[in-house]
Amino acid sequence: MSTPNKASYLTAPEGNFAVKDASYFKPGPGEVVIKNAAVAVNPMDWKIQTLGTNLPFPKQYPAIIGTDVAGEIYEVGEGVTGFKKGDRVIGMANWFLTARPQDGGFQHYTVCTSNVVSLLPASIPFKSGCVLPLGLCTGAMGLYPSTRLALPLPHPTKPKSVNKVILIWGGSSSMGSAAIQLAVASGVTVIATASSKNHEFVKGLGASAVLDYHDDKITAKLVQTIKGAGGEFAGALDAIAEERTWRACAEVVKALGGGKVVSNLPTTFEDVPEGVNVLPGELDSFQNKEIVEGIWTRFVPEALKVGTLKAVPPPVVVGKGLEKVGEGVELCKKGISAGKAVIEI
Ligand SMILES: NC(=O)c1ccc[n+]([C@@H]2O[C@H](COP(=O)([O-])OP(=O)(O)OC[C@H]3O[C@@H](n4cnc5c(N)ncnc54)[C@H](OP(=O)(O)O)[C@@H]3O)[C@@H](O)[C@H]2O)c1
Repeated sequence: MSTPNKASYLTAPEGNFAVKDASYFKPGPGEVVIKNAAVAVNPMDWKIQTLGTNLPFPKQYPAIIGTDVAGEIYEVGEGVTGFKKGDRVIGMANWFLTARPQDGGFQHYTVCTSNVVSLLPASIPFKSGCVLPLGLCTGAMGLYPSTRLALPLPHPTKPKSVNKVILIWGGSSSMGSAAIQLAVASGVTVIATASSKNHEFVKGLGASAVLDYHDDKITAKLVQTIKGAGGEFAGALDAIAEERTWRACAEVVKALGGGKVVSNLPTTFEDVPEGVNVLPGELDSFQNKEIVEGIWTRFVPEALKVGTLKAVPPPVVVGKGLEKVGEGVELCKKGISAGKAVIEI
């Protein structure tokens, strides 16, 4: 008999979430099934709900979305060697790449490709661990491809300084806090922005300096701080992905003599200042073996174990049960400062 499963379905474009029975799918080669204990909500989820058919996915409704999961390995597919039933893990649910229902996060059992799954130490609760996967993958899309900021891959314990400095705009966000930790582990000096109340949090992730983006003189102050940090300027990562934030990054980059800004705004970038190249994160990096293994095999498990990768921002638990997914998506849409909406399952 198949394992009973339930999912929180996004019922229609611009529709609501509703919990219904869902099929259980066995893992294919190279895949695992995770029995979810906690799932996190990302801005992507409310944007999908709000923008409906203006986005390229989901291709079909009702749809199971959700990308960040934590739980126990329930079943292991052919060829998977690193995981066994009962292991505590976090994983990135790939539904937006595959369009398969089993790959959505908002259900009891999610199929994940094993190369974007990591063991989660017993000391880290599932509700904390689930905040990380998409932030790490999205940060990596900007930091590591040779066509983007081209940083060396991170080391969990002994990052070697590469004498480079980068700007991460939005250091207290989910993606920003993951990106800071990756960049620091790559041996890079990070200058970040965040509201003043979050400066200690962001410095605690390894940023060398944090400036308040509300400051009228933020551009000049960032330029001065980056110049003072020493090392070659390697570019900016806009973790907030709004027009005003990639433009703010572009102003800083221009004042430093030009270079790259990576921003995940799904649009074309127009009226870009001369000498500045604004690019989206490289989606292909999800399939780039060197980057995926460099992050998920060689960095995340060890860094979580030794504490050089923290499961941040802290979870804001909306409640227990798939019925809470809609509420979590609403909360994420309202905005959380240095926190991430999480549902315990
Ligand atoms: N999370 C991901 O993995 C992911 C994946 C793909 C795309 N994205 C995109 O990246 C963006 C951020 O996502 P997220 O999940 O990281 O967001 P989030 O954690 O929900 O963002 C909240 C944070 O954004 C900061 N913030 C808001 N406006 C800002 C501004 N103008 N300048 C600097 N910081 C600002 C706030 O900082 P303060 O409270 O300190 O002011 C707050 O801590 C979204 O557009 C999302 O669609 C994210």
